[in-house]
Amino acid sequence: MIAAPSRTPVGRFAALVEQRLGLHYDPPQWGELESLLTERASGSGVEKYLEQLASTPSPAEWKALAERLTVGETYFLRHPTQLETLVDQVLPSFLRQTPHVRVLCAGCSTGEEPYSVALLARERGRVDASRLRVMGIDVNPRAIAHARRACYSPWSLRAVPLAMREQWFQRTPEGFALRPQLREQVVFEERNLLEESAAFWAPNSFHAIFFRNVVLYFPPEVIRKIIARMAQALVPGGYLFLGPSETLRGISEDFELLRGGDAFYYRLRPPAPPAPLAVPPSAAPQRAASSVSAPVFTPPTPPPPLEGLDGVLQLLEAERYAEAGTLLESLSQATQPMGLLLRAVLHLHAGRLSQAEQLGRQLATASATEAPAHYLLGLCLEQFGDERGARGRYAAAVRADPTFALGQLRAGTLARRAGDVVEARVGLRMALSMLPQEKPLYLALFGGGFGRHGLMQVVLQELQACTENS
Ligand SMILES: C[S@@+](CC[C@H](N)C(=O)[O-])C[C@H]1O[C@@H](n2cnc3c(N)ncnc32)[C@H](O)[C@@H]1O
Repeated sequence: MIAAPSRTPVGRFAALVEQRLGLHYDPPQWGELESLLTERASGSGVEKYLEQLASTPSPAEWKALAERLTVGETYFLRHPTQLETLVDQVLPSFLRQTPHVRVLCAGCSTGEEPYSVALLARERGRVDASRLRVMGIDVNPRAIAHARRACYSPWSLRAVPLAMREQWFQRTPEGFALRPQLREQVVFEERNLLEESAAFWAPNSFHAIFFRNVVLYFPPEVIRKIIARMAQALVPGGYLFLGPSETLRGISEDFELLRGGDAFYYRLRPPAPPAPLAVPPSAAPQRAASSVSAPVFTPPTPPPPLEGLDGVLQLLEAERYAEAGTLLESLSQATQPMGLLLRAVLHLHAGRLSQAEQLGRQLATASATEAPAHYLLGLCLEQFGDERGARGRYAAAVRADPTFALGQLRAGTLARRAGDVVEARVGLRMALSMLPQEKPLYLALFGGGFGRHGLMQVVLQELQACTENS
């Protein structure tokens, strides 16, 4: 619903933001908007600014607002089972009857998602790269400029196995630069999903659309409108991928829900898809897609919201960082060590490294938070490019809590990268033996969306790399 007309300036600002960008703010969140409004209107005065925004909207001003208001959290190979389903099953099924397949990533942020599609398609080898076109769109001009530069921090690559990182990225003083053959496969466009464009959303434009972790910020009518446009732009039997906690329930009847392995996704219905998603059972038995229009599976229902710091942790695990931050700031425990630790992790996710580091230093002296604080400081140092310093911090984290498997994992990974294979093996084997008992708090704070099993796979890959490098 469009925010209720309000006579207060901030209420009018919230309504304009929702109309133009789709982003919905409830009154308790208006404080955030109020300071932005004051800042943007400092030249003209609030009344005049709002009048101009409503009557003669300046594209430049809306771009500036989009940069400030959108939440761009993303990383390479996020929700990997969906990406695998796309490149192993969906795209090959279309390529049997069409020369090219086109994938759109709507709300692509800084480009990690569309590049992941291109990267995984090459890695898995079931899609001829010259027949795949990927496009990313986003309303945030700064995010699109970053996507086109294609140079990323280690944090963006945290879920990329080492061998892939070494094959597809080149280390430069600015970060990890994506190799040109992948870069050239993806095009980017600055585009607001709320804007009508018959040409862009023309029928048969895309075979699959990724629209993940974007609808979270939109009210249902906005989602409905965008999904209808996407349904119109997909080829018959085209696919739609939403984030794992997002659903079309109550939004659209145009799609059927499918499940392949632990990935949920949607297919346009009817007419029937161009070819059944027939994957030989021997090739990928656990990924075979099954229609869930029968009551065999139900869409993932988000767990009931928890309260207090547990609620913040739950939002953090679901990667709903803005909401986690808002909830945290409303809690009296926000200034206690565990609250400060959560705040530091949220700073890290938002790229506010110096704030994360400052809090981390403070928390490393408190016994309850010593181990995770050292770990956090290690992550900050890695982002600053200081891998030696980071190793020291991971070692300190493990000294403070000898059961800290993730600490051993990072320390082992960095030791291997520094050529210290013996030390790397020791750390990685310790990590492997301790991961089954890793504290849920550490997994939630630092697991990067991997479960225990996924992290164990990462350790195994690292151990394999030790063998190859020795
Ligand atoms: C959390 S990121 C999701 C990135 C990626 N899809 C993923 O799942 O990793 C959400 C993105 O949606 C974009 N977005 C928000 N409102 C938008 C709009 N009206 N039009 C286009 N993009 C929008 C934001 O700029 C942000 O980059």
